[in-house]
Amino acid sequence: MEAVNSILSESCKIYQDTCIRNSRIGDGAVISDRAVVLSSEIGDKVEIGRDCSVIHSSLGFGSYLGKSSMMKFTRVGKFCNFSWQLSIGGSNHNYRAACMYTDSWWKKTLGVGEGLVPVEEEEYTQIGSDVWLGSKANIVRGVKIGDGAVIGANSLVLEDIPPYAIAVGTPAKVIKYRFDEQTVARLLKIRWWDWDVETIRDAADSLRGDLNEEKLRALEEIAEIFAGRGRNP
Ligand SMILES: CC(C)(COP(=O)(O)OP(=O)(O)OC[C@H]1O[C@@H](n2cnc3c(N)ncnc32)[C@H](O)[C@@H]1OP(=O)(O)O)[C@@H](O)C(=O)NCCC(=O)NCCS
Repeated sequence: MEAVNSILSESCKIYQDTCIRNSRIGDGAVISDRAVVLSSEIGDKVEIGRDCSVIHSSLGFGSYLGKSSMMKFTRVGKFCNFSWQLSIGGSNHNYRAACMYTDSWWKKTLGVGEGLVPVEEEEYTQIGSDVWLGSKANIVRGVKIGDGAVIGANSLVLEDIPPYAIAVGTPAKVIKYRFDEQTVARLLKIRWWDWDVETIRDAADSLRGDLNEEKLRALEEIAEIFAGRGRNP
């Protein structure tokens, strides 16, 4: 393990042959074998799979990234389920130039220019909370994926995907939504992922298994109590 200029919480687990630089690794986070984490914020209870690279990115509480995935310049919310072999936040090369090398390759190979150009915050890929990315999905730089969305296996996401949409294919198109419009609106108001961990654990019966009106009402009641308490996660 090589950790340079980084803050590692005491309870995180860092496995073999990892490389961590200029990053913060949260409580109970796991960085698996051979993963590379550069200039990133790895939140509490986040798991980064084997052979992943996470560069200039952040992942919120409880999200996990499956093995052999690449993530660059991306902000991820909480409780996200990311499968394996994903490509997230990769940029396009300039195919209008005579040479399609990027600035960083011009610097690395030929010593020309400044190298990696910093990316503005608004150019980051943004992924909400409770999002599921199927295996081998490719999410390009700057796209926004809403809370609760599902991206099918092998899909190429070139455009923003609305909350709770299920999008598949190349290019990815919305084929349906996880729930009807009213239910989506209610869930987006509930925002269960922003509750503290104890509250989420107590609500497990309503959050797990197929959603129904009874569970939705129970979640709304908890959301009201939670808002009243004004507690942060
Ligand atoms: C997106 C997904 C969740 C949809 O599941 P579903 O609701 O059961 O969808 P259906 O099987 O009813 O498919 C609906 C349509 O979308 C198409 N479709 C589904 N997934 C697709 C995909 N990944 N790419 C392209 N088309 C897809 C189906 O062929 C079907 O098309 P049709 O209506 O023309 O027949 C699922 O197909 C998927 O891709 N899961 C990811 C699995 C995975 O990667 N797991 C790794 C572990 S996390």
